[in-house]
Amino acid sequence: MSATSLPIIGVVAAGAMGSAVASNLTKAGCTVLTNLDGRSEATRKRAHDAGMKDVSLADMACRADWVLSILPPSDAFSFAEKFLAEARDLSAAGAARKPLVFVDCNAVNPETAKRIAWLLGGSAVKFIDAGIIGGPPSPGYDPTFYASADEKDVGILDQFAKLSQYGLKISPLKGEGAGVGDASALKMSYAGITKGTTGIFTTMILAAHASSPATAQALLHELHSSQPVFLDRIKKIILPMMPKAYRWVGEMEEIAGFVGEGEGDIYNGLARLYERIEKSVEEGGGDVDVLKQFVDDAKRL
Ligand SMILES: *[C@@H]1O[C@H](CO)[C@@H](O)[C@H](O)[C@H]1NC(C)=O
Repeated sequence: MSATSLPIIGVVAAGAMGSAVASNLTKAGCTVLTNLDGRSEATRKRAHDAGMKDVSLADMACRADWVLSILPPSDAFSFAEKFLAEARDLSAAGAARKPLVFVDCNAVNPETAKRIAWLLGGSAVKFIDAGIIGGPPSPGYDPTFYASADEKDVGILDQFAKLSQYGLKISPLKGEGAGVGDASALKMSYAGITKGTTGIFTTMILAAHASSPATAQALLHELHSSQPVFLDRIKKIILPMMPKAYRWVGEMEEIAGFVGEGEGDIYNGLARLYERIEKSVEEGGGDVDVLKQFVDDAKRL
């Protein structure tokens, strides 16, 4: 990338996060490319509103300086494979072309990030591991892109951090032992704490209620008198969690893999919980009603 030209950035996909990130980049003057093959009308509109341009993956590989992969975790590896198949020919173009950098921003097990690094290793495409902490950018709010790279690519990591000039908040993860996998490990650890505690609160409210509605009421009053900080958190996070639960299933499984057998099994349990919430959201009633009632009662105390 020459210092004078604005960067060209591929963002896949144009989901809630991808399109909000793209919107920041296009507002800063960057060209943002995406691929809308097989995507819904709603996604096409979101992409258009964010100023994203619909191109083939081959075109994206040809034109972009950076490609940000922002997908459900289960699609991260297969997208990297698909993209690499389109980018292979670039090796032939050789040094004439500025380097293309693939940035995996997904909530994946660090092993998955390392597998993607290994996959790209034999090509001309460079790799950065990133993890986004926080929700999509919105007025006055920015998530942080933590990013790490192997020792040999530290110059590219520094260049990536400079994209901060174009509407992204980027924090390079450097220091003792840092490399590919560590930005993902940070994301897993943070999400394991935030979404993990949300899952534990939810599990025990449902278990108390299954014992009897009176037990759930007694739990509520005991939390109110002895653990007000926990109850405040319950009031804030349980309702917003429900529509997102379907996305958290895969993320919990990635965290289970990251932590490993034993303690990591906690997160397999939480994946089952979020599946159960997803089902209740689809069908209506049941768990969703129990949780709403609990939060309503907590707010009234
Ligand atoms: C990203 O866009 C939002 C508006 O949606 C803005 O408030 C925020 O400051 C932008 N972020 C950066 C780093 O410029």
